[in-house]
Amino acid sequence: MRQHKLALCGEHFLEWVPEQTQRFIEKYKMFTPSDRILVAVSGGKDSLSLWDVLLRLGYRADGMYIGLGIDGGVDYSTQSHEMCVRFLSNLQSPIPNTQYPIPNWQPTLHVVDIAKIYGETIPQVAARTARGRDKPCSVCGLAKRHIMNRMARDGGYDVLATGHNLDDEVAVLFGNTLTWNGSYLVRQAPVLPADKPGLARKVKPFCRLYERETAAYALVRGIDYIYDECPFAEGSTSIAHKEILNQMEKDSPGVKLQFYLNFLRAREEGLFAEQATYVELNACEKCGQPTSAPGLCAFCRLWEKRS
Ligand code: AMP
Ligand code: FES
Ligand code: ZN
Repeated sequence: MRQHKLALCGEHFLEWVPEQTQRFIEKYKMFTPSDRILVAVSGGKDSLSLWDVLLRLGYRADGMYIGLGIDGGVDYSTQSHEMCVRFLSNLQSPIPNTQYPIPNWQPTLHVVDIAKIYGETIPQVAARTARGRDKPCSVCGLAKRHIMNRMARDGGYDVLATGHNLDDEVAVLFGNTLTWNGSYLVRQAPVLPADKPGLARKVKPFCRLYERETAAYALVRGIDYIYDECPFAEGSTSIAHKEILNQMEKDSPGVKLQFYLNFLRAREEGLFAEQATYVELNACEKCGQPTSAPGLCAFCRLWEKRS
């Protein structure tokens, strides 16, 4: 890990990742051992590693997988689901000489299949709406946020954790900086508080770990994950930004981490404070989640338009 001037063997790396994660959880006051945590797992390396690490740290963490119904020629959603199931059945695999063992209780994996509940897959909804016609990702992101929030709230969880890593956060930050999108910048943080009725508290415990580090963790720990990116992500600006940032990182190790940490500091110091204008939110008439629109929220409007 050139950015930390640190090299570890597999055994010590498996201790270093939980140690670091625990440090970030405390630093950003994400949650405590008495909280019930819902981890959103996509079947990818970040979220499955996160679930593993939280369990090893002794947190009460259940998982939630959202079946999006994406095929993309690689049976993407089915494979992703399979990885989450496989993770749970392999969970007890022992780690030698660890201070962070897997607990002896079995966590739950909640599965929400969009097509079964709402009658359509993400590609189907995207195809008939202006919002998703060119890029299903916008519809998909909206649906995932909505369902994660609902599941966390209905399941009585204190906090919702996602597997976003440093590379994800930096790519988003980079994009929002290029356009100086103040209202997005002010809301990008390791913790999003539950500051409106019906909103779950959201945390990103891996936000300071490089993607290489979460991938290495999954590899050394023997966690099987889906290697394919979502087929719709191909050619996206965030992937292009990641490539540019990786080139910069190669030339000056640590640049991504510094960009992110200095942003968090500037944000804490109030650089974007005047953007934080108060938006009046109402409860959606159908699902009850907060929305700035009158009547139905954006998610319910998507399904309402079904012909
Ligand atoms: P992405 O937006 O695909 O980069 O994923 C970011 C995070 O959202 C992941 O690390 C997961 O925590 C969560 N996530 C993505 N897709 C799903 C899914 N299908 N089911 C549950 N959680 C997901
Ligand atoms: Fe939703 Fe790709 S994961 S469009
Ligand atoms: Zn709604």
